[in-house]
Amino acid sequence: MNQPLIYIVDDDRPLSRLIETYLKKYFVTKTFERAEQAISEMATDKPSILLLDIELPGINGLTAIQKIKRKSPETVIMMLTGNNDISIVVEAIKNGASEYIVKPIEPKSLLTKINKEIKNIGIKKELCQMQEIFLKEKFPYITGESEQISEVMAVVKKVSQSKRTSVLISGETGTGKELIASTIHYRSAQTEGPFVPLNCAIIQESLFESELFGYVKGAFSGASASGKSGLVEIAKNGTLFLDEVSELSLNSQAKLLRFLDSGEYYKVGGTQKCKARLRIISASNKNIEEMIEKEEFREDLYYRLAVVKISVPALNKRRDDIIPIANHFLEEFNRTLSKDKKFFSNQAKQALESFCWRGNVRELRNCVERAVLISNKQEIQPQDLGIVNDTPKMMKKHNNDALPELSSSGIDLNKLLNSIEMNYFKSALDITRGNETKAAKILNMSRDKFRYRRLKLFK
Ligand SMILES: Nc1ncnc2c1ncn2[C@@H]1O[C@H](COP(=O)(O)OP(=O)(O)OP(=O)(O)O)[C@@H](O)[C@H]1O
Ligand SMILES: [Mg+2]
Repeated sequence: MNQPLIYIVDDDRPLSRLIETYLKKYFVTKTFERAEQAISEMATDKPSILLLDIELPGINGLTAIQKIKRKSPETVIMMLTGNNDISIVVEAIKNGASEYIVKPIEPKSLLTKINKEIKNIGIKKELCQMQEIFLKEKFPYITGESEQISEVMAVVKKVSQSKRTSVLISGETGTGKELIASTIHYRSAQTEGPFVPLNCAIIQESLFESELFGYVKGAFSGASASGKSGLVEIAKNGTLFLDEVSELSLNSQAKLLRFLDSGEYYKVGGTQKCKARLRIISASNKNIEEMIEKEEFREDLYYRLAVVKISVPALNKRRDDIIPIANHFLEEFNRTLSKDKKFFSNQAKQALESFCWRGNVRELRNCVERAVLISNKQEIQPQDLGIVNDTPKMMKKHNNDALPELSSSGIDLNKLLNSIEMNYFKSALDITRGNETKAAKILNMSRDKFRYRRLKLFK
């Protein structure tokens, strides 16, 4: 572990030197005569502890506290005071200091106090790490190593810092839109309310308003006697996740827009104005911009929903993610379904990498779950995945739109061509029930060439 860094800020040079000589045995120290010097040095280091004299040339200790805290909120400030004036100490603590030490300094008691603070800092750090682990385990975690998913994660991180910014997530089915929405919610530190999903595709138009805003008792026939809270009220101070938002009728879109404009609403049958502050995250696998052109989606609503836009690429367009995500699911299903720790054989990995995942991450998850259940051995083979024998699907899937797009990060062309070739070889052998001569024929090559390539590809 690195030695903690301690700043000593005091214009009394003999005293600073004395403290430094004593603390140097245990810590890294730096001394300053003026608070300004210490503050400017803090642009590059983050001291664990700062010992701060109150009466200093230039800005005094009391004023410096806030500036120091702004620069490095984690630094613990311990005041060095020449007198016992309690009002000054109270003021210092109010400004953000943690401790005070009355001069003349007694080295041993100074060391005891510093050690106590260092221990507290360690506990706080540990708590932060535990919170991170808790978040990872309790909530699904976005896995992936591709450049595309890193870009998505960078936006997720940024919007998580705001409490209310609306986010619109687009992407094919199974790409992880809901996972991303819930990650934004759970990563937003100040969010107090819950994550409430509503699937707009399955809600009847006539029920949308009462579902969203609730109703008062006796609002309509069939309404429950006590009335009902709407999702907006339930998601107060949290997140309302509008899944498949493109499926909302124009009428429902108008009702939603009215609420988003003012943050106010009326329960169905109610006369009292209600307020709810929350974040709206919506998701869609349709192109809403095209829908706007066809006047199927309101442009004004779109701009309110899509303050930040996240587009999640299809899994086939970020093939670097396939194995890390497959391993992530393997770990999960090894934990929940299997007694022994299963792993993918190299051929199984190749099969996963070369398959065209129309159902995206969801399909990959189901495939790994099946493999963990089906495989009799610890090493998972291609046939356990349930995708290898799916020849017509695989062949059809290797059309151009299934191929990864070339971007500045590049692709491994050889690997890609090999995987395409492997699929055709497998399909040819499937169709001809393993007859190499016939398989070679339908691939328009000699039997020798077929055998040679087969050995190379499947070695
Ligand atoms: N990057 C990822 N890392 C780990 N798990 C993922 C990732 N992306 C998606 N998943 C998992 O894949 C499954 C499907 O994801 P999700 O339900 O979020 O997709 P979706 O885009 O909302 O799909 P649909 O459009 O069908 O509603 C979930 O089990 C989710 O946890
Ligand atoms: Mg979804």
